[in-house]
Amino acid sequence: MFRHLQLAALALPLLVSSARAQATAASLREAAAAVGLNIGIATSSNEVRDAASGYATAAKSQFNMVVCENEMKFESVERTIGQFNYSGGDGVSDFAAANQMKMRGHNFIWHSQSTSAQNAVKDRASGLTIMRNHIEAVGAHFKDKIYEWDVLNEITDDGNGNKLRTGSSRPPSFWQANIGDDFADSALAMSRRVIGTSGHLYYNDYGADGVNGKSTAIFNLAKKWQANKVPIDGIGLQSHLGTGLNKQSISDNIKRFGEIGLRISMTEIDITNSKTQDWVNLMDACLENFNCVSFVVWGLADGNSWLRGNCGGCVLFSGSGNSAQPKTEIIQALIDAMKKADPAIAARRKAFAAILPGSLGPNGVGVLQRPNLRRGAKNPSVLAPMPVFSIGPGDLVDPLGRATGISFPL
Ligand code: XIL
Repeated sequence: MFRHLQLAALALPLLVSSARAQATAASLREAAAAVGLNIGIATSSNEVRDAASGYATAAKSQFNMVVCENEMKFESVERTIGQFNYSGGDGVSDFAAANQMKMRGHNFIWHSQSTSAQNAVKDRASGLTIMRNHIEAVGAHFKDKIYEWDVLNEITDDGNGNKLRTGSSRPPSFWQANIGDDFADSALAMSRRVIGTSGHLYYNDYGADGVNGKSTAIFNLAKKWQANKVPIDGIGLQSHLGTGLNKQSISDNIKRFGEIGLRISMTEIDITNSKTQDWVNLMDACLENFNCVSFVVWGLADGNSWLRGNCGGCVLFSGSGNSAQPKTEIIQALIDAMKKADPAIAARRKAFAAILPGSLGPNGVGVLQRPNLRRGAKNPSVLAPMPVFSIGPGDLVDPLGRATGISFPL
């Protein structure tokens, strides 16, 4: 009897507080913060310019992370080689700073939306020079504002997924064709050198969300980078998905990257013809894994999404722009999923996310000192060796060469 009373007394405040929680549904960003997750949208400086607009109000009340949908891509920032325009990224980063949001940087090195680079890169030397100048300038400008950088975008071939996207892939990579396969290693090393520990370095790709040939190729590439001390902190799963997505496969994929110490961010989520359960499944696949740190939707509202009319409901708001309306059932289901998340995993995620972005450790050396790996190159040329960021000899370094005060794995 006494025991029953005790239980009842315990249950009462719980009932009251859960009723209150439902009445005043927390925002996505509040729920995400409680589990150590960043939750974000892709946006543009135009869309967030007027802080009092319906769009900006929705963005800042529900999300704690932003990324430029287009304005930080190579041809937007460096439309003419050597001339830099940061206005789009600055506009979005000002909005982020004013509203305590983190920002992703998207992206440095991609085969698409990089026309100025594509026209100027003629061979290995010009490729490395243009790559280095771009990363150094843009990285230096934004380094204190960006938390996760997509250094590399879509560099794995679709084919059977076992190799890099090459100059003969469809679409081809002019970076790979001119520099050779180590273009990716160089981009990561250059990025670490300029960004230091102020941002996490990512490789971001599509069609690699679950366990499949492409994600396995990426997993093997990541392990190779680690073995060669090429700096890599995380993998971006773009997550352009459709209804009926395979939660278990996505969760298993995230888990294997966690086992080698890599962060996972879902970076460009849209779910074509989505049902509420699809969103919950995707969120749960993330929440189950301590290394899944960011959940970013590719656009605020269906009408703002790059898929537009074709997506049958693919993001978290309907309508578009200032008249965007929250999909309350989906948003509430995501909030509930986060509230139900395992607190032990959430605690582990917070500790993991707090590890400083990587370094090659004391006396790290850059991959640019490696010999020219490009087979058949007539005129081998590498840039002068350059040191990659390294931390002081007294600092703690984890087994992956990253500065950390806590031992790894957690
Ligand atoms: C898309 C943008 O959403 C569109 O506005 C633009 O016209 C083309 O690029 N993978 C990526 C993103 O990494 O940068 C792409 O964004 C979508 C696919």
